Amino acid sequence: MSDRSSGQIDTVMIEKRLFPPSDDFASRAAIGSPEAYQALYDAAQADPEAFWAKLAKEELHWFEPFTKALEWEPPFAKWFIGGKTNVSYNCLDAHLQTERRTKPAIVWEGEPGDERTLTYEQLHAEVCKFANVLRSLGIGQGDVVSIYMPMTPELAIAMLACARVGAVHSVIFAGFSAEAIADRNNDAQAKLQLTSDGAWRRGKVLPLKETVDEALAKSPTVEKCVVLRRVENDVAMQEGRDFWWHELMEQASADCPAEPVDSENTLFILYTSGSTGKPKGIRHTSAGYNLYAKKTFEWVFDYRDDDIFWCTADCGWITGHSYIVYGPLSAGATVLMYEGAPNFPAEDRFWEIVEKYRVNVLYTAPTAIRAFIKWGDDHVDKHDLSSLRLLGTVGEGINPEAWMWYHKKIGGERCPIVDTWWQTETGGIMMSPLPGAIPTKPGSCTKPLPGVIPSIVDEALEEVPADHGGMLCIAHPWPGMLRGIWRDDARYSEQYWTKVPGKYLTGDNARCDGDGYYWIMGRIDDVINVSGHRLSTIEVESALVSHDRVAEAAAVGRPDELKGQAIAVFVTIKGDAEPTEELRQELRAHVRKEIGALASPDDIRFTAALPKTRSGKIMRRLLRDIAAGKEAAGDTSTLEDFSVLAKLRQNDE
Ligand code: PRX
Repeated sequence: MSDRSSGQIDTVMIEKRLFPPSDDFASRAAIGSPEAYQALYDAAQADPEAFWAKLAKEELHWFEPFTKALEWEPPFAKWFIGGKTNVSYNCLDAHLQTERRTKPAIVWEGEPGDERTLTYEQLHAEVCKFANVLRSLGIGQGDVVSIYMPMTPELAIAMLACARVGAVHSVIFAGFSAEAIADRNNDAQAKLQLTSDGAWRRGKVLPLKETVDEALAKSPTVEKCVVLRRVENDVAMQEGRDFWWHELMEQASADCPAEPVDSENTLFILYTSGSTGKPKGIRHTSAGYNLYAKKTFEWVFDYRDDDIFWCTADCGWITGHSYIVYGPLSAGATVLMYEGAPNFPAEDRFWEIVEKYRVNVLYTAPTAIRAFIKWGDDHVDKHDLSSLRLLGTVGEGINPEAWMWYHKKIGGERCPIVDTWWQTETGGIMMSPLPGAIPTKPGSCTKPLPGVIPSIVDEALEEVPADHGGMLCIAHPWPGMLRGIWRDDARYSEQYWTKVPGKYLTGDNARCDGDGYYWIMGRIDDVINVSGHRLSTIEVESALVSHDRVAEAAAVGRPDELKGQAIAVFVTIKGDAEPTEELRQELRAHVRKEIGALASPDDIRFTAALPKTRSGKIMRRLLRDIAAGKEAAGDTSTLEDFSVLAKLRQNDE
């Protein structure tokens, strides 16, 4: 156990299973041995600027070459100084003189089952046309375009068209409320809104245009609105403000050379919720972000030219930006894009899609994996998943038992799993196994990628020894890092660079084990302090999930006079059977056996669902309030389903 005064975090979880890649996988991988990974990592660490400069020259198109790799005036970084490039050029034009010209870039399936494929050549033409539409609406370099659209190819086309003319996109997930759109539009000072007549969700139509109309009434900077026809329902069009996408496209020329923009030209802002207060507009720029998304895509997914790559995220999140659009397309990959819900018309929709398109690489989130486990194996067993060769996860820690299920049931014990740790702020994956090189341990994101230099420190800012938890920081700038918070430099400095001077503070806790493997221990704010022992939420939750009746668990601290904090857990169970007092006792004993008496929960509450963000993360902050018997306070605009809170409160009474 650690020295209590230093603020280190105690670990109670010991996971010893190790899964090396098969010889077959490793022998075909681009980086196929621990030594090959280490050589790349060492080269990057020895001279990060030279490492990235060499890659930038090789991997991106330069209208004008850059003269210097990095300008670092903490906390502000600039990469590839003086260079001019264009992200849409790198994603599209760069492939047109190669065999990839006629290769599918986007293979799309709509929720009702409609299909479309766009080759690189076709996608290029659509993007050029929409870029001309943007220009005709007065959009140019630096203007902010707010995008509130369903997961259709047009969403990617809109993003790439913004990049083509040097405009800044702000994609807002199409499940947010009018209020949330207006807040983001006003903060960004958006000039143009893109939306659709509606979106399909579980067979029903979400009225996106109606929501946008309400938002635009409160977004004075937005001058015009372009509406994609997707669901064919009636919408009100405001004369002079609203235009149909298809009508504008009919008149647009497909000739639109990419605008050379400065390396540091803002490519997009993406709003992410702070735990309190107003959402932050995370700002990413062109060349550094593009290079980082491309290389991390190639390394982590061991990219092969004939792969069908499916990332199940929505383009409303950073995962969709980096691993549906910018990473895969600049690498020349074929991406599968799916519009709808994983349980429509039935709970086997994902597996039906994998079978139908012969998907090779599947990248999804722990929240989805836990839902699949809850829905039962029958849905998986109906389908042939033999095309899969690699699996990935992102967004939250994955409990080791959920990892094992993914490994066995979906991966047929043959597919490596890349547990990728990163953030909206980091632009791309920071820690992950390279699947042909690094044996995996369930629940660990394993090692940093080349060029990523992690550092774990305690409250005294000292590096912690192996197997001790502390605050995870990144010690050197990397090309994909955020360049700031939109129009709020003070908040940027305060949030990420003040507590640990000179290092980027991720806001997560982590530990590194004796083999140099990293284990993310949850958000700094979520630590539970029991009698002076600081415990991580994920370890208690993983112990619960390893019980065969538990589907999901969330652990939080609640005030306790004796211990400082007591552990309260919220548990959802598999199947339909009602939970009993006996099960509660059994779970308590189970956790005690798995990780010890110290971490045994004081309070176990059963619930049908946990409060989650719209991207599927458990909102422990709200559960903390409920466990303490308080009203859930703070920002709840990102909460996916408000009825969950009401139900949890009812259980409390
Ligand atoms: O707490 C970490 C968790 O998600 C946070 C970042 O969230 P967001 O900006 O929404 O980006 C999600 C997609 C990159 C992190 O600070 N997180 C993400 N991936 C993992 C994770 N926690 C543990 N393991 C992961 N693989």
